[in-house]
Amino acid sequence: MTDIERIDQLREELHLHNYNYYVLNAPVISDKEFDDLMRELQELEARHPEYMDENSPTMRVGSDINKNFTQIEHKYPMLSLGNTYSQAEVTEFYERVSKALNEDFEICCEMKFDGTSISLTYEHGRLVRAVTRGDGTKGDDVTDNVKTIRSIPLKLHGEGYPDVFEIRGEILMPWVVFEELNRERESREEPLFANPRNAASGTLKLQNSAQVASRKLDAYLYYLLGDNLPCDGHYENLKEAEKWGFKISDITRKVHSLQEVFDFINYWDVERKNLPVATDGIVLKVNSLRQQKNLGYTAKSPRWAIAYKFQAEQALTRLLKVTYQVGRTGAITPVANLEPVQLSGTVVRRASLHNADIIASLDLHVGDSVYVEKGGEIIPKITGVETSLRPAGSEKVTFITHCPECGSPLVRYEDEAAHYCTNETQCPPQIKGKIEHFISRRAMNIEGLGPETVDLFYQEGMIHDVADLYQLQSQDIARLERLGEKSAENIMAGLARSREVPYERVLFALGIRFVGETVAKKIARAFPSIDLLAAATLEDLIQIDEIGTRIAQSILLYFSNKKNRQLVARLKEAGLKMEADEEDRSGYTDNLAGQSIVISGVFQHHSRDEYKALIEKHGGKNVGSISKKTSFILKGDNMGPSKLEKAEKLGIRLVEEDEFLKMIQEA
Ligand code: IVH
Repeated sequence: MTDIERIDQLREELHLHNYNYYVLNAPVISDKEFDDLMRELQELEARHPEYMDENSPTMRVGSDINKNFTQIEHKYPMLSLGNTYSQAEVTEFYERVSKALNEDFEICCEMKFDGTSISLTYEHGRLVRAVTRGDGTKGDDVTDNVKTIRSIPLKLHGEGYPDVFEIRGEILMPWVVFEELNRERESREEPLFANPRNAASGTLKLQNSAQVASRKLDAYLYYLLGDNLPCDGHYENLKEAEKWGFKISDITRKVHSLQEVFDFINYWDVERKNLPVATDGIVLKVNSLRQQKNLGYTAKSPRWAIAYKFQAEQALTRLLKVTYQVGRTGAITPVANLEPVQLSGTVVRRASLHNADIIASLDLHVGDSVYVEKGGEIIPKITGVETSLRPAGSEKVTFITHCPECGSPLVRYEDEAAHYCTNETQCPPQIKGKIEHFISRRAMNIEGLGPETVDLFYQEGMIHDVADLYQLQSQDIARLERLGEKSAENIMAGLARSREVPYERVLFALGIRFVGETVAKKIARAFPSIDLLAAATLEDLIQIDEIGTRIAQSILLYFSNKKNRQLVARLKEAGLKMEADEEDRSGYTDNLAGQSIVISGVFQHHSRDEYKALIEKHGGKNVGSISKKTSFILKGDNMGPSKLEKAEKLGIRLVEEDEFLKMIQEA
């Protein structure tokens, strides 16, 4: 067998195993066998770049090329559904349809999946495009990210699918994946996702499709559009689509009476809690496409369908008091302390109140009877007050004016909902928060240290700021009951290694407000030492690409504080890198300043990642897909025909590898 034949064979096999595993939930080979086949295919494809295929199973692993999503107009607008919470309105819908049609009809009952909607276009059995709902008329092209979702077929099987059609559905993050993701985020001290819907839509918009692949999204498809669909029945079409390889929910039922509709609703209102993904209602659709056409649309939604939304579970309980938490940034979060109450299977004692405005709008009084809801969020929220039950003479909840931890007056910045304690250097949770950020993996990555150790050292009075870490003595750590000699050694080694962490990450580790990882990189490039940065003016700072006055002012504020300047000096003395290494500094030009460059194809001299780095090093911006704004395309071998066509249509210049290398070398 030739390599090419083997590639074809492997692709077919892997598409099938994917389908067995992700759509049917019935794998026929082990994970290891699957991985081996995938690796074999990857190797063969690497050897035969001329045989690359946009829809090969290897494309599912994603790439780390940055992507600014292109907007694409929907061929058919993505409408929303009329919503109701009332069974009486369901009856009205049914009767309205019955009257308008004046003939027999069937209703297809489906789950309303609570994720993020997607429109997939297939041409000749191959996935060509995946677009988000956007504003309903146009959405983001997220094709590369969607390709990482294993339950979405890249190539269809079976027969009878139209040459060109769209299929719409919901991208979901299963509960177990969501919980795992949040556990990880918690351990890395990153903000948690409130619910699987936000997690799914956030994931779909990630720039890095390899990261998307790691998040294990799933999808159910529920709506076919196109000119030559196989059947007149929506339900029957979905059954066909199932044969082509799509994941269609098996909860879908076709019914003939209002009674059956209610049986479906009432059954799934309870049973849905056992499903692996989030749902928030039931969708009812008139089954016949001919009848759908007859019924037509209002301006916003079809007259042939309605969504019945489940009532979020509520409980009534008493507000005992409001307490306030101080976050590591100094942000104050009010928390309602409640009389414990049973809600959706757990006991609720606390609910988030978010900010002062929410408290004011609820007109909350201590002792009030309040409604708590869990609508798909992890932290329950207060949705209303039963004012008729308010005890006489109860006291209105007023937001605190001073920090509960350190007593400093609170401030509220313009356009922000939160109150802040600004006593960064003396407020305990802020001190600990800053140290925890400093040692975290993406910052100084100090192994052996974690939030609990930081807390312990702080309690013991051993550290008050990040520079104190470098004064720690092995024997002082070893003396602590919970640690011992081995841990002490680890911590000391971790601290020693952190002296090699590059300047840009030290800059990020300082925890200057608004200076995240990307901003830190940009600043480090423009000001290759901390002394230069500390001396920069507002005008200097806003010269940097993508640095506006908000960030610039925050940097100025940081260095205007004597305590911060002293801290930086002590860190420098401790041996941390406060300037960029020579190799990082050399070779930068702005030859590509202001240019948006798409990389496409396979190259001889550098990998795609290296080209991406080169583009950035010379002041350009690497973008994922071709648009009017693209300055040129860095073209390798085997650039895909659809990309070539698009480039031609928009009149975008193609630059070959050698020419590009010359461009960046020129002075
Ligand atoms: S059908 C024109 N079916 O609900 C009707 N939508 O408000 C097209 N959704 O944006 C939608 N489950 O994201 C349909 N089984 C289902 C659904 C469903 C969830 C979402 C979808 C849509 C929204 C409608």
